[in-house]
Amino acid sequence: MADGFSSKTAFVLASIGAAVGLGNIWRFPYIASEHGGIWFLIPYLVCLLVIGIPLFLLEAGQGFLNKKGYFKSIEASKNLKFIRAPLRKAIGTFPVLVSTVILGYYSALCAWSVWFAVEFILGNNPTFGLMQASYTPVLAFIIVFAAACYVSFRGISKGIEPVTGYLVPLLFIFLLLLFAYALLLPGSIGQLEKLFAGNSEKLIDPRTWYYALSQVLFSLSVGYGIMYTYGMHLKSGKGIFSSGFQVAGADTAASLLAFFTVVMVSAAAGPAANGLALSFETLPAFFASQGLLGAIIGASFFILLFSAAFTSIISMLEHTMVSTSFVGAMGKVAISAGIFIIGMLSVLSYSPAELQLFGKPVLDLLDFVFGTFLAPFSALVVAFGCAYLLPHHKIAKAIGLPAKYWGLFSLAAGKVVPAALILLIIFSQLSGLY
Ligand code: ALA
Repeated sequence: MADGFSSKTAFVLASIGAAVGLGNIWRFPYIASEHGGIWFLIPYLVCLLVIGIPLFLLEAGQGFLNKKGYFKSIEASKNLKFIRAPLRKAIGTFPVLVSTVILGYYSALCAWSVWFAVEFILGNNPTFGLMQASYTPVLAFIIVFAAACYVSFRGISKGIEPVTGYLVPLLFIFLLLLFAYALLLPGSIGQLEKLFAGNSEKLIDPRTWYYALSQVLFSLSVGYGIMYTYGMHLKSGKGIFSSGFQVAGADTAASLLAFFTVVMVSAAAGPAANGLALSFETLPAFFASQGLLGAIIGASFFILLFSAAFTSIISMLEHTMVSTSFVGAMGKVAISAGIFIIGMLSVLSYSPAELQLFGKPVLDLLDFVFGTFLAPFSALVVAFGCAYLLPHHKIAKAIGLPAKYWGLFSLAAGKVVPAALILLIIFSQLSGLY
């Protein structure tokens, strides 16, 4: 593979860009608020350490070693011959499909961020209601999608690397500034203290653990093969081990900063909305009520959201395109059209058209099915593919893990990750996820 990351730092920045996204700023605050508040951090951190980081290392390590797209590697693997070609194809396709659908609705959310940022810059005091009453987010979506296709077309060294090199530091600067702003709001410290009085009994609900697991996978961008694709573009694998911890640390820090910021701002804004509305309804309404400073903060918040989302979009698009590189030009056009349609239906679900499926806005339904429900299944498939169909005994050495941890890595990647995923899937399904 000729095109690749120029350095380990470039890989880490691109991977942080892939990881830090709407999952941290929009999704984490509302999922954590609904599932135990501050206590949600316990299952989250356990899932991160036991499943998220080992899976990151496994995926990126396999990508680095195989240098072929995820689908092609799985299809061509020689292990476990009793797994027939159609099943191999399914194992190679399913995670890419899940990530591709996420990419579609995710681009719609990124377009919302652009819409809000532009409206704040124009001094228009945007609200969620105004956004829903307009078709202009459709235009924002078309621009976001075209920009992502352009970056993907430029490749890793001329597209993804420069974009993430600028946007990732920028998004952390914005995140810290917004956190500082939220701290200065009246009563904000009291709000943070209140978080600790949250719902600790949620910890014994298996659904809390399932949501925590899905959130780790969604947020760290593992379990879809995205890190496999990024790993393919590394010239040396030695830095993957330390990168895994750097990316997980930065991603968790971003989620916590966003969570505390959103909690403090939404408390200052009055009764906090739940779910999707937290970032896109409560916060803009509050910013809009704060005059010029509010407009500046509002624009900053949505530029942050855009930067975070866009650097994730390009990672998902890269994964889809690299994994399907064998389909030819027309195939690529068809895949891009498919993503475009999913994104368009998602934007239209919060427009005057109010597109719904099974009584839910298309976007909400896709986020539940692909972002929450199917994520652990996708992770299980990737874990199985990367640990069993592709031999994993060379990874520990290749990723720069000290020799004394090789056995531990093999245990984690080959046994603990799949077992933990299976247990969580079974328990949460038995307790009813809906
Ligand atoms: N990892 C990306 C996010 O958290 C998809 O938004």
